[in-house]
Amino acid sequence: DELQLEGHDTFLHKEIHEQPTSLERMLSGRLDDRFATARLDGLGIDARELRGFRRVKAIGCGSSFYIGQLGASMIEDLARIPADAEAASEFRYRNPIVEPDTLYVAVSQSGETADTLFAVREIQRKGGCVVGLVNVVGSSIARECDGGIYLHAGPEVSVASTKVLTHMGVGFALLALLLGRVHDLSYADGARIVAGLRALPGQVQQMLDSEDEIAVVAKGLAQSPSSFFIGRVRGYAVAREGAQKLKEISYQHAEAYQASELKHGPLALISPQMPTVAIVPDDELVERNLGALHEIAARSGPVIAVTHPGVEFGDLAAERIVVPHGEVELDPIVLTIPLQLLAYHAAAALGRDIDRPRNLAKSVTVE
Ligand code: G6P
Repeated sequence: DELQLEGHDTFLHKEIHEQPTSLERMLSGRLDDRFATARLDGLGIDARELRGFRRVKAIGCGSSFYIGQLGASMIEDLARIPADAEAASEFRYRNPIVEPDTLYVAVSQSGETADTLFAVREIQRKGGCVVGLVNVVGSSIARECDGGIYLHAGPEVSVASTKVLTHMGVGFALLALLLGRVHDLSYADGARIVAGLRALPGQVQQMLDSEDEIAVVAKGLAQSPSSFFIGRVRGYAVAREGAQKLKEISYQHAEAYQASELKHGPLALISPQMPTVAIVPDDELVERNLGALHEIAARSGPVIAVTHPGVEFGDLAAERIVVPHGEVELDPIVLTIPLQLLAYHAAAALGRDIDRPRNLAKSVTVE
């Protein structure tokens, strides 16, 4: 079927707005209230085998790599086993050490990205177990992995990914919940995460309802040829993806940094002409994050804070985008939504070709 814009000016805008409905669809049948866990039959791995994995490694390219990083932090939070993410393009070329007790997760919208596909084959050649977090059903990565979680986001037309990334975040949350429940996550905490996941589509909708205010902030950001995006731990992957989205579709330069690393170099660039988008969740690191904003304010750097209700900024942030606060482990997923809208409205203000940004392809299937 020919896909229609259905009243939106671009597919990117349509896809951003589809998220509450597409997330409901993805979650349906995958939350298990009785045992406070996730039902992921497509993985094809039983509880005993799952328990044998002592480490998780996500691999993917571009935004799928950044969401892998976000996913790794959810797995560490909920399952308390070491997890990290790596660009598949690096992994495949560096003679990676593949361990039998590591669960590898290949993250891909298209399921056809050459670097990710070759990384999957390298893992299998070395006897590792790799599952896919893939959107396109029947794609090469989906077929070649040992099992997987389909994202069920529906077709994504715009070159820059939005809704599928959110689905990847939820896919990792489900995997983290399942891994947590076969390790040490309690029934009560499992039930808390199940309820948190159920609340996500509504929280995403709440963010979309703030679009007009975010558009105003975006118009200001669009005027800056360069900006920083900062976050700490859970928020760092969010910052990386936010910077990536802005670069891809507005062509303005944006660089993501760990909030903690700002003082070790990039602070030299802070000035009234260099805005910083700061991810400041209301979690155990909020005071540390506000500390970084003090350093920026002392150099007259403008700050756009993406934050939760109740965080006190005083004069530290001229602009604030307030995101609904749910379970801390899941919050990074919702924190990415305003960054999609920021990038979209910045690109729109600059008159860019939003669905087809220059030099980029939806999936890179060649070497
Ligand atoms: C291309 C796209 C990116 C995407 C990356 C990975 O570079 O332009 O937006 O994140 O490929 O694609 P995948 O289909 O594997 O998620």
